[in-house]
Amino acid sequence: MRVLVVGSGGREHAIVWSFSRSAEVDKIFCAKGNAGIAELAECIDIGPEDVMALADFALERSIDLTFVGPENSLAAGITDEFESRGLKIVGASKAAAQLESSKAFAKDFMVRHSIPTAEHAVADSPEEAAAILNSGRFGSESDPVVVKADGLAAGKGVIVAGDRKEALAAVESLASGKIVSAEAAETIVLEKCLFGKEVSVILFTDGERFALMPPARDHKRIGDGDTGPNTGGMGVVTDPLLIDEDQRREIIDKIVEPTLEGARSEGSPVKGILFLGLMMTDDGPKVLEYNVRFGDPEAEAILVNLETDILEISRAIVEGSLGETIIQWKEGSSACVILASENYPSSPRTGDRIYGLESASKHENVEIFHAGTSVGDDGEMVTAGGRVLAVTAIASNLSNSLHRAYKAVNEISWPGMQYRRDIGK
Ligand code: AMP
Ligand code: GLY
Repeated sequence: MRVLVVGSGGREHAIVWSFSRSAEVDKIFCAKGNAGIAELAECIDIGPEDVMALADFALERSIDLTFVGPENSLAAGITDEFESRGLKIVGASKAAAQLESSKAFAKDFMVRHSIPTAEHAVADSPEEAAAILNSGRFGSESDPVVVKADGLAAGKGVIVAGDRKEALAAVESLASGKIVSAEAAETIVLEKCLFGKEVSVILFTDGERFALMPPARDHKRIGDGDTGPNTGGMGVVTDPLLIDEDQRREIIDKIVEPTLEGARSEGSPVKGILFLGLMMTDDGPKVLEYNVRFGDPEAEAILVNLETDILEISRAIVEGSLGETIIQWKEGSSACVILASENYPSSPRTGDRIYGLESASKHENVEIFHAGTSVGDDGEMVTAGGRVLAVTAIASNLSNSLHRAYKAVNEISWPGMQYRRDIGK
């Protein structure tokens, strides 16, 4: 079997690592990959949105299965292109990817299918957004409101505003084109602010059947104690105790099943991965966002727990036979700590030499996934992005997995390295 993985971050390193453990996989390619991925796969220089070139490559090199990491590839229609050429691929179609690529589409979808989510309004201009805010529809001047750019914005398009004044400023700053592209913010979504604990529930699905992965919790802010700006994610823990059995049932009955059924009834079933960003409110679980891909670093924390061959799961997704596959996970818990460059997330410095990687990787039950690394002129590993490494450990419980992850983290260093000391706390 020849497998192609699309993407180049820590998530894709974890996906490549999972395929490398399959007895049936002979060769893995990754577009574009990174220095860590290059130890397991042949990296090819084609970007995730260049779907024509990726499909040409897959045909020329007789790829048996392609697995897509990032949303921009799905939103660009990679799945539709591959399927039209008879190529097998795990990932949502362009139509299904709208659940992630347009927040307005996702909110309207949830309303159509009575899926619990925050009350919202869609504005087609900053003036309209301001008028809606000033109308008092989202509460008084002192109430918090969430302001979101409609389009893909790599985690930067959401501002949780503390009051109306902040919300009006958030509308202005999104519309200015400075923090997200003007295109992504052409439409603005306003939402009532929800309160509770956040949980990421990710599932494999063939469009009809589904299998939940262990629940995960991301840590989005750069600083300890959830301070500072949002990032792509600074660390994730998985633990069965993040949700109880009743909550799990409620999530399935009120969210997972209506979402899959709703997508099918609209002629665009979600195949591949579905990621639910949930707020566990006093009034039950509510959807904050849909993604149609693995999270990053959720993938790093979750895939180390997977016991079943990812190739077998991928095949079942493609063939529509997921119901017949029993997916097994390790019992216990995992922790992933992201090591980031100086000045991440605003303007990360790159090119710093990374020390201690080899000894850290020798720790038992620890996997170090590369997010942004490359090989320097002297063959040494150097930083090459904002998020650099995802240090992941598994253990029988959360506190032991955290202990293991941080022990490995302590061996790694480079000038300006940043990480959160409070993941899982
Ligand atoms: P999203 O990309 O839509 O998940 O938003 C990013 C983050 O913003 C979420 O993980 C939450 O922390 C926060 N957020 C989004 N929507 C809401 C909401 N309606 N109420 C409270 N927090 C929210
Ligand atoms: N870590 C959050 C995401 O990948 O969307």
